[in-house]
Amino acid sequence: MTETIEHIELTILKQFESRFEAKAEAIVFAPGRVNLIGEYTDLNHGFVLPMAIDRYLALAVRKRADSTIRAYSVDFDESITLQMDNLEKEKHSFQEYLSGCIWALKEKGYSVKGFDCVIKGNIPIGAGLSSSAALEMAILRAASFAGGFPFNKVEMAKLGQFAENNWVGVNCGIMDQILSSAGKQDHALKIDCNDLSYEKCPMPPATSVIILDTATRRDLIDSAYNERREQCFNAANIIGVPFLGNADTALLEKNKLKLSELEYKRAHHVISENARVMEMAGAMKNEDVTTMGKLMNISHESLRYDFEVTSLALDTIVACSQSDNACFGARMTGAGFGGCALALVDTDRKAEFIENVNKCYRSKTGLTPKIYICKPSEGVTLKEL
Ligand code: GLA
Repeated sequence: MTETIEHIELTILKQFESRFEAKAEAIVFAPGRVNLIGEYTDLNHGFVLPMAIDRYLALAVRKRADSTIRAYSVDFDESITLQMDNLEKEKHSFQEYLSGCIWALKEKGYSVKGFDCVIKGNIPIGAGLSSSAALEMAILRAASFAGGFPFNKVEMAKLGQFAENNWVGVNCGIMDQILSSAGKQDHALKIDCNDLSYEKCPMPPATSVIILDTATRRDLIDSAYNERREQCFNAANIIGVPFLGNADTALLEKNKLKLSELEYKRAHHVISENARVMEMAGAMKNEDVTTMGKLMNISHESLRYDFEVTSLALDTIVACSQSDNACFGARMTGAGFGGCALALVDTDRKAEFIENVNKCYRSKTGLTPKIYICKPSEGVTLKEL
């Protein structure tokens, strides 16, 4: 059973008091995310359509009068103390994210002040549900509380990405950070990753989004991600656009002979996926769940054959889901190679769907999936105590 957020809140408040001998002044909740559609389009300055989920990273915080930051992670059972004027890079779990966010704030001229904090979450780590973006947003929200500067959702998402790209060393796009920062209850967000504007898209009534964790993880995902990124940038260059998000199918076809077969496939995925995001947003507004499901199924095929970022486990759990009558559509979500898929399911029949997929996936792979029903949730919030 996933630990409830209420229980997590109690734990971190208790831990805070016993470790720092004072009461926390505020508590921050930063959600994870799933992406309904628009995979690998963010780094190509295209569109994405993710939603924040009701799994959070919670952080209890208290301001300090000096420039020290003390943090304790309950999940890693690890304490760290940072001096803001002397930040060091250390490949060491959550310290990397904490020092990276503080470094990014200082680089961009924010007035950062010291704070004490205790962190704990219920977003599965390494499953592709953006536990790291949630950690970044939780830290940045706490820093804005301690430093007394406003928490601008888009600016802070950009800072989180800046920290991850330049301090932690992961070349991710901006999708995860924006969602954890700006997610909206009962909605997904259609984000234009070129100008970072976004709009709310309502989840149709009587549908549930179900996360299907394959219980597989892949090492070296960063290098596979970087390789795809390079291939996309090369293809854009050859086509003559700044990013693939600026191209359409007609332009791609016109330039087909200039591209290698591999570059063409990568570009074909990104350009067609970008168009699917727009169609999906329209289908959501019309409550057209059949079209939504079809688009998700096509997206998975495109990620499987053109972009080649699925895995046997992901293909299997998606096929098990798609063959169930309660399912409108299913696809992998996130960076792929392992981790999670998601399915759009008729709410009334979700219990039987979960049972059937569980059985189907177990019999085909011998692995037990973890299945979560998730609710579209609000982005990062801070509650003063
Ligand atoms: C990871 C990255 C995101 C995005 C997805 C793929 O989650 O962090 O920026 O590129 O992969 O869509």
